[in-house]
Amino acid sequence: MKNRDVIIACDFASREATLEFLDRFPEGRKPFVKIGMELFYAEGPSIVRDIKARGHRIFLDLKLHDIPNTVKKAMRVLSALDVDMVNVHAAGTVAMMQAALEGLTRPDGTRPLLIAVTQLTSTSQEVMQNELLIGATINDTIVKYAQNAREAGLDGVVCSPLEAGMVKETCGKEFLTVTPGIRFADAGKDDQVRITTPARAREIGSDFIVVGRPITAAPDPVAAYERCVKEFLSF
Ligand code: C5P
Repeated sequence: MKNRDVIIACDFASREATLEFLDRFPEGRKPFVKIGMELFYAEGPSIVRDIKARGHRIFLDLKLHDIPNTVKKAMRVLSALDVDMVNVHAAGTVAMMQAALEGLTRPDGTRPLLIAVTQLTSTSQEVMQNELLIGATINDTIVKYAQNAREAGLDGVVCSPLEAGMVKETCGKEFLTVTPGIRFADAGKDDQVRITTPARAREIGSDFIVVGRPITAAPDPVAAYERCVKEFLSF
């Protein structure tokens, strides 16, 4: 599987809205898409099968976090859906991540990419210390959780593009970084805080950028996608 690409976050509430969006792309142009909790819980596994049948690669962003045995069994179900990338919370422990990997691996040895969420970008240092009673800094937590994910045999982590360099330094350049928080240089931030452009994300070391509103809410989403691909993939 090609290890650098633009993933479109299909944050739509229904099958109709999602397929209508994907229909805008020309025949043969099949972007890598991310399906999140909202769409998956609304439409169920059939939306994954439908999008897969149209020829797209899929990152199923369900962020599993439970006891190892439950996560293992859930991953077995997701693996049978033939998705290309799934994720768990690194906070679920190394044992949980190892169980996830085991459940995900098919009898023939193949499996989707498995990545871990380190610290959600919505969690502040203050909340970590005062509410979750985690005394370490956010950056130390991200590095440690990335190391745990690597130790468990995972392929990489989801992190801010601004953290990708730090993760690569600690875990090696083959360890994947999947980074949301991408905005074009001439656009607004929406509710994102730690953002950067596609070109800068490439320079810092992102392998996959996850882009939602800059593409889905653009007047011409196909043109916005192509701009993103050009900025991120061409040198
Ligand atoms: O619209 P936007 O480009 O901000 O969308 C980014 C996508 O990445 C959304 O689906 C959002 O939920 C997801 N995401 C994020 N920050 C994280 C993890 C996931 O923005 N730390």
